[in-house]
Amino acid sequence: MKAYNCIIVGSGIAAMQLATHLNSMFNVLIITKSTKQSTNSYRAQGGIAASVGKGDSASFHYEDTILAGCGFQNNKEVHELVENGPELIVELKKRGLHFDEDENGQLALGMEGAHGRKRIVHCGGDATGKHIMEHLFSTLRLGIYMLENRFVYELIMHPITGKCMGVKVKDEYGNNETYFANTIILAVGGIGGLFSFTSNDPSITGDGIALAYRAGAEIIDMEFIQFHPTLLYINGKTAGLVSEAVRGEGARLVDKFGTLLMEGKHPLGDLAPRHIVAKEIFERRATGKDVYLDISMIASFEEKFPTITALCQANNISIKEGKIPVAPGCHFLMGGIVVDQVGKTSIDGLYAIGETASTGVHGANRLASNSLLEGLHYGKKLANHLNGQRIGECEQPVLEEPFNFPIVKSRSLPEKETLRQKMMAYAGIIRTRSELEHLEIWLNDYDYGDFVDLPLDNWCIEDIQRLFMLETAKLITTAALLREESRGAHNRADFPNEDMRWGQLHIVQSKKELGM
Ligand code: SIN
Repeated sequence: MKAYNCIIVGSGIAAMQLATHLNSMFNVLIITKSTKQSTNSYRAQGGIAASVGKGDSASFHYEDTILAGCGFQNNKEVHELVENGPELIVELKKRGLHFDEDENGQLALGMEGAHGRKRIVHCGGDATGKHIMEHLFSTLRLGIYMLENRFVYELIMHPITGKCMGVKVKDEYGNNETYFANTIILAVGGIGGLFSFTSNDPSITGDGIALAYRAGAEIIDMEFIQFHPTLLYINGKTAGLVSEAVRGEGARLVDKFGTLLMEGKHPLGDLAPRHIVAKEIFERRATGKDVYLDISMIASFEEKFPTITALCQANNISIKEGKIPVAPGCHFLMGGIVVDQVGKTSIDGLYAIGETASTGVHGANRLASNSLLEGLHYGKKLANHLNGQRIGECEQPVLEEPFNFPIVKSRSLPEKETLRQKMMAYAGIIRTRSELEHLEIWLNDYDYGDFVDLPLDNWCIEDIQRLFMLETAKLITTAALLREESRGAHNRADFPNEDMRWGQLHIVQSKKELGM
């Protein structure tokens, strides 16, 4: 039983930026479910959106962000996010991170969907996430400890005050441990691993949402899930991301005859907002037709996109042939745990940052490359907030040292792959009431009664993960059923238009109630 000032759950960009900026008074523990590299941040290809180019400005970046998110955002937060972009880039450069440069030694800026101008800062071509994360790992100060392969399965709440005061953890052998801190921060990413087609690391299965929900926190906007238009598509499955930066360099979406897919569909064509491009490809594929990215016009593709080249090679797709087969897949959760402007959740002592939090900056659809920016911005903002607080003694735990009960296995819970396929089929890119109702009935068949209150100490990790996936899938399905309109990434075929009556209404779910 150990006590820290701060426990950060997760090891993506928001988590590491927070750890980097917490002052040296903080005794910090980072706990991550798998290895520290198994995050979406590490996989990020495109880069960081920031208005650093000639003729660009934070207000142009703001307009693009708001337009992509369909105006369903917290404008003040968006303002702050885009205003801070350039400074965050300068700061990383000063700390020693090398961004790609053009022949004049200026930052090389990429283009992505729904951006009015080039503003994507990148490293190592399409290996931006890997470079940033390795940099953040390597510059961590002393006094920050990291535990890998530890699965946080419960937040410990003070029985009287209700404050979050620690975490229960299982190591890779299933042994239980407890860690205590004044402040607990969830930074565990989104829900991509709940869908069979995904760009996400498979370990990203909504743990943060399930942990917070079970502890009583409010969860918002779970119907707003972004599907990235272009994942490599092989033998009926997706195999990884093909960055939008490829279309930013000129690639076109085509069918097998070379006919342009996005021609006449949107003024921005191949670089239309993601939900529009994803829907076009999805509909085309649903009629049995193949869709490709024609990359034949991109000079030195291998040099510009080494990660995608390696991905194609590993899947026997020849870059030389100039055509990459693609399909859309789950990419990013716009909703998440309700937080205030510094990341505080509705539970005292519990914070959330990064994709697992809903800061209100993405609205109904996130603008490309705003996610690494969000992680950097809110990681630093929360650090500044905590640095300004009295650190205080960690409250003495009231629990006994655990609780290594015999593990009970094989509960009746959905197989992970079955759940992923159901989610993709019934809560995917295009939704209808009948499909969502079918999904809801299927999910509710796994009846655990008041499942959110079940103690999990004697559950094995696999069963807890399946339970968390089930719970998170239910939150998504409930919200997607309720929102009877189409807006941004939430696409209801039976309600194909935006409905003004929904206005700025958000769907908020908690253990106690469902509200708007
Ligand atoms: C991409 O490189 O296409 C993904 C970047 C992002 O999701 O922001």
